[in-house]
Amino acid sequence: MKFDNRTQGPGLVRRRVAVGATATVMGLSAAFGSGLTATAHADVSVSATAPVTGIILGVGATESQRIVSWYSSVGTAQTVEVVAISGNSAKHIVTFPATVAANSVNGGYNGHATITGLKKNTTYSYRVGTKGKWSPTYSFKTQDFKGNFDFLFFGDPQIGSSGDAVKDGAGLQDTLKVSLAANPNAELLVSGGDQVESANNEAQWNAFLASNKLRQYPWAATIGNHDVGGKAYEQHFWTPNTDRSAPYYSGSATTQSGGDYSYIYKGVLFIDLNSNAYANGADAAHIGYVTDTVKKYGSQAKYTVLVYHHSIYSPADHANDGDNQLRRKDFPTAFSNLGVDLVLQGHDHSYSRSYVIKNGAKANPSEKPGAAQVEQGPGGVIYVTANSSSGSKYYDLTAPDTTEDPNYGPDPLNPKSHWANSVENQEHVRTYVKVQVRDDKLVVENLRSGTCAAPNAAVELGKVDWCGPNSGASAAQPVGSAVDKVVIRPSSSTGNGQGNGHGQSNGNGHSNGNGNGHSNNSYSNDNKLTTTAPAAWLQ
Ligand SMILES: [Fe+2]
Repeated sequence: MKFDNRTQGPGLVRRRVAVGATATVMGLSAAFGSGLTATAHADVSVSATAPVTGIILGVGATESQRIVSWYSSVGTAQTVEVVAISGNSAKHIVTFPATVAANSVNGGYNGHATITGLKKNTTYSYRVGTKGKWSPTYSFKTQDFKGNFDFLFFGDPQIGSSGDAVKDGAGLQDTLKVSLAANPNAELLVSGGDQVESANNEAQWNAFLASNKLRQYPWAATIGNHDVGGKAYEQHFWTPNTDRSAPYYSGSATTQSGGDYSYIYKGVLFIDLNSNAYANGADAAHIGYVTDTVKKYGSQAKYTVLVYHHSIYSPADHANDGDNQLRRKDFPTAFSNLGVDLVLQGHDHSYSRSYVIKNGAKANPSEKPGAAQVEQGPGGVIYVTANSSSGSKYYDLTAPDTTEDPNYGPDPLNPKSHWANSVENQEHVRTYVKVQVRDDKLVVENLRSGTCAAPNAAVELGKVDWCGPNSGASAAQPVGSAVDKVVIRPSSSTGNGQGNGHGQSNGNGHSNGNGNGHSNNSYSNDNKLTTTAPAAWLQ
């Protein structure tokens, strides 16, 4: 398996209109104004004919990179211009040439560029386009490149699934606003998949992309079953280290999107799978991808977090789908053996947090439902399912049904719940998941980002007939309140960030190993933003 940012899906014609191995430093005359301190200049204003729309900031291969993706009405050469506006980086503009390709569906073009060499604790401003035709200017910031950080996880926006994309988009915008107001220093926005209801519907994509938070914080895209049926997903998102080999692609390469990808961020190895591919050996291929990635990069990682769309421990409508029954058999033992710590999932538009699961079974039979703290132990994995982040659609919890799947019966300690889950929740309100990454623990919280009031499309449109805790019998809880919170402690909290004992003993987990993997396999933190040119920045 090889990592290649330019790996192409067969049938996708990608025309590289601008290439550049090194960044270009521009002189003072080309300095661009930002919304913070605009400087009079011929090239400052946003052009009415700017060809660029749908800009989204994405994750890069490491904490020192970001990927910017967008749509364009023209296929001409385009760039991303980046400049530091605070911190220790030199104040000059650096240009990153874009790859621009004709869209396969819906006309027009898509572009993306990888920003590399970012410095820690720096705020950057950026814009996309060509000379005289620039997008508005946006900004993002980096923080320390080591140590503690928080990220947020968002389940199924699925814009359009209520039947009203505008209302669904308003719900997502509000969740992004509320969650980032409460957590302004969160560093990643991780997707649980199903960005939109209909894969190639650009009106839904526009509603999804409406919030400027998506241009300020990096969105780690995950492909859901509603995104996979067309090429728009990969026209809108470029992801790092993506392998689009056939087993990860779920069907026709000419009509499907996706792939498995990975990145490492401040000591956490994130592995994002296209779980739409599940039959014909695809689960084995996913396990192979996770195995290879953990072997190559696990030594750099304090924790391993998997992300994919189809929750294997669903609490609601999809609990006993045939494909999930298959994944439920295929995945857990491998994930335990590989030292995976946390699995983030979507698809079921309801919330669940599993017990500590080892090799597909509850690791500690005495672990209490809703425990506030759990000991992970070797091979222990926590599986989380996120509820809707937009309010477009909710699924009600379902009773365990062993006639559907004898291996997914009731919890002896709480027979209304499935055996794997410590917490199952549905209130028909928007939520998001906050994850705190600390040296000696992971803290997972499910937080309400809305109430029963608008924006809450499924409630507004009568798609559900109750709202609030206890099937609507209790009053809705306030925005920011917690549905669930758990502190996950590795079995051995040595706090040294390496080989801290929460991997599996077979050596495939987080062992520091012999150390010879670093030089060959480290994700690159190159220094393209470091130049000696004089600062050409805002006056
Ligand atoms: Fe889904």
